[in-house]
Amino acid sequence: MATLRHSYIAGVGHYVPSRVVKNAELEPMMNTSDAWIQERTGIQERRWFEEGTDTTANMGANAARKALEMAGVEANDVQMIVFATLSPDYFFPGSGVLLQRELGITNNCPALDVRNQCSGFVYALSVADQFIRTGMYDTVLVVGSEIHSSGLDKSPEGRGVAVIFGDGAGAVVLRPSTEEGQGILSTHLHSQGEFAEELIVKEPSSNRDNRADYVVANKQDLYPFMNGQNVFKHAVVRFPQVIKEALDQNGYQPSDVNMLIPHQANLRITQYVQQKMGLSDDKVYSNIQRYGNTTAASVPIALSEAVQEGRIKRGDLVCLAAFGSGFTWASALIKW
Ligand code: UT7
Repeated sequence: MATLRHSYIAGVGHYVPSRVVKNAELEPMMNTSDAWIQERTGIQERRWFEEGTDTTANMGANAARKALEMAGVEANDVQMIVFATLSPDYFFPGSGVLLQRELGITNNCPALDVRNQCSGFVYALSVADQFIRTGMYDTVLVVGSEIHSSGLDKSPEGRGVAVIFGDGAGAVVLRPSTEEGQGILSTHLHSQGEFAEELIVKEPSSNRDNRADYVVANKQDLYPFMNGQNVFKHAVVRFPQVIKEALDQNGYQPSDVNMLIPHQANLRITQYVQQKMGLSDDKVYSNIQRYGNTTAASVPIALSEAVQEGRIKRGDLVCLAAFGSGFTWASALIKW
C-alpha cells in the first residue's frame, strides 16, 4: 500500500473562443442593456463558440495542450482524464473520451466525466487528487470546458439567464509533489439536492415515454432556468463557509490567503465574499467582466490567467472556491 502524498498543479492552461460578444450586441436581441448587465453582474463581454470550429471536447483539448506543455508532460503520459462539464458534446458518451481522442492519447487511460456544474472543476480536481494521493496514478489531466451559447434562450424571455453565461475551457495537470507541505492541501465538497430545480436544464429528460417527441413540443424546457435571487442568497453563504472550512482544516486565517480564485458567478457575489473575508483587491481574481460565467471552466480559466499574469508565486496560499447548480459547492486549498 503506497503512502498518502500530495498532488500539485504542474501545469495550467486555458482556451476561449475568438468571438467576443459585448453586452451591446445582446441589447436588440434580448431587450436588455449594457448598464443593467454591468450593474447586476459586472459582465462586459463574453465569448461565444464558433460552430464547426469549437466543441466542448476540442476546447478542453486546446486548454489541456497548454497545461501539458507547462508541465512538460507528453499527452500519452497522461494516466487519467477527469472532465467536468454541464454542456457535453453528446448525451453519451462523455466528453472525456472525446478529449482523449482529440489529444491523440492511445494508452487506453481512463476518462471520467464529472457533472457538478459550477462546482464541477473543483470536484474534478478533488477526484484527481485522491487518485494521486493513494499512489494509483502520477499524472492526471483535469479539464473544465463549456459551450453555453448554443443552449441559451436569446429572446427577451431568456435574458435573466442568457446574458450571464459564456463559453470557454481550462485545464490543469496534477502530479505528485516531492515537497512536504506543497501542493493541494485539502479539498472540500458539498451538495444539497433539495434545491436541484433552482438552477436547471430539465430536458431532454429520460423520464419520458418518448423524450424526442417531448422536446420537439416543449422547446422551452431545453433552456436553463434559474431562480437567480435564491441562488444568489445561497451563494453568498456557501462561498465564505466552504473557504473557511478549508482554512480551518489547515490552520490558516483569511489574512494568510495570497490569492482567492472564486468561481466567476457574479461580480457582486465575489465582492461580497471578498469583503466578508477582509481581502484586498489584489488577493481576489476576477475575470467575469471578460468571460461571463463559464461554469466548470471558470475556475481553471481564472487560475490560468492569474498564473500567466504572475499574480501567483511559488509558496503562495491559493484558495479555489465554487458554488452552483445542485446546489453544489466546493473549495480547494493549495500551497503553490
Ligand atoms: O454560477 C452558478 C451560480 N449562479 C449564480 O450565483 C447567479 C446568482 N444570481 C444572480 O447573479 C442574479 O440573481 C442575477 C444576475 C441572475 C439577476 O440579478 P437580480 O438583481 O437578482 O435581478 P432579478 O432577477 O431580481 O430581476 C430584477 C429586474 C426584473 O425586472 P422587474 O421585475 O424589477 O421589473 C427583471 O425582469 O431586472 C429584470 N431583468 C433584466 N433587465 C434587463 C432580468 N434580467 C434582465 C436583463 N436585462 N438581462
